[in-house]
Amino acid sequence: MNMETANLTANTNAPADAGRIKALIDKLEQDRSLTRSEWTDLIRGRSPETAGYLFDRARKIRIRHYGHDVYIRGLIEFTNYCRNNCYYCGIRKSNPNAERYRLSKEEILDCCAHGYELGFRTFVLQGGEDGWYTDERLADIVASIRSRWPDCAITLSVGERSRESYRILREAGADRYLLRHETYDSSHYQRLHPPALSAAHRQECLWDLKELGYQVGTGFMVGSPFQTSENLADDMLFLTELNPQMVGIGPFIPHHDTPFADQPAGTLELTLFMLGLIRLLLPKVLLPATTALGTIAPDGREQGILAGANVVMPNLSPAQVREKYLLYDNKLCTGSEAAESLKDLEERMAAIGYHVTVSRGDSLNI
Ligand code: 5AD
Repeated sequence: MNMETANLTANTNAPADAGRIKALIDKLEQDRSLTRSEWTDLIRGRSPETAGYLFDRARKIRIRHYGHDVYIRGLIEFTNYCRNNCYYCGIRKSNPNAERYRLSKEEILDCCAHGYELGFRTFVLQGGEDGWYTDERLADIVASIRSRWPDCAITLSVGERSRESYRILREAGADRYLLRHETYDSSHYQRLHPPALSAAHRQECLWDLKELGYQVGTGFMVGSPFQTSENLADDMLFLTELNPQMVGIGPFIPHHDTPFADQPAGTLELTLFMLGLIRLLLPKVLLPATTALGTIAPDGREQGILAGANVVMPNLSPAQVREKYLLYDNKLCTGSEAAESLKDLEERMAAIGYHVTVSRGDSLNI
């Protein structure tokens, strides 16, 4: 285990610290702000006991605002072409083994029609940064979805674009935008991305999106290579500042065709702890139990819900392209992960006392 990984390992043998960690959890719940060193201590000092304490609090807050509802989003992965070369991502430009595809406008609309019938009222269009989808083409797709399904929310997740592009897409009818900041710290960001990308620019995009009136989602990977507890503390401070409507986090999972193929995956344990902390920091936030969480543990998403999450995002992409949108190894795309298996998902949620709802599921955090 290298130092950096050791730094993220939970504290399993210092019960004397539990009192201090619980006091920090109480302070977070009351003040919704901690200093950087408090965040670091809280993350580094966690233990199974304090995690249980945190999840109890997080669940109560979640139930106060959202009851036992679980919102669903239909995820349409419409292109796996990408101009970027992020070191962690399986669809990075220089992976020659990624079989590339892009969906046509008609195929995307078919996904929406199918999703609408299944009960989805939010469509998430996610893709790599693919130059084929110019503002004109993408705005046309968004406008068509907007006019055919006026009661649905349209979420875009297509990476960094110009402020003008974001404006055009917003005008065309997009309501929400997901863009994870990945990691706040610029030197850590630089270790995960090629020189052409920067933390500062990523964050600038998020502020632009917010100003343009999007409901904004950001987030980060948990246990990404070289990540320290201080990095996670900075991520929490950034969330405090940005106050986004949504926060997507999931464990880093290596992909065999990337420079990070041999790096260890993030853990379920730390991801759940971070979910609980985010629920306390932003009580009304929309917090997905992500596919990556479901990938590292068979009941990962259920555990995510029990730690404070309130959203799941089943896959609505056409079956034949699903295995091609491989951001990391073993990514789930069948079973209750698939939009067609909503019944299975409903049963899983019912088994832990929660129910899947048909609604746009707008954030209360506005
Ligand atoms: N493991 C986990 N998450 C990943 N993502 C990309 N590659 C990986 C990986 N190897 C996440 C990034 C991105 C989102 C769409 O998927 O955080 O923002």
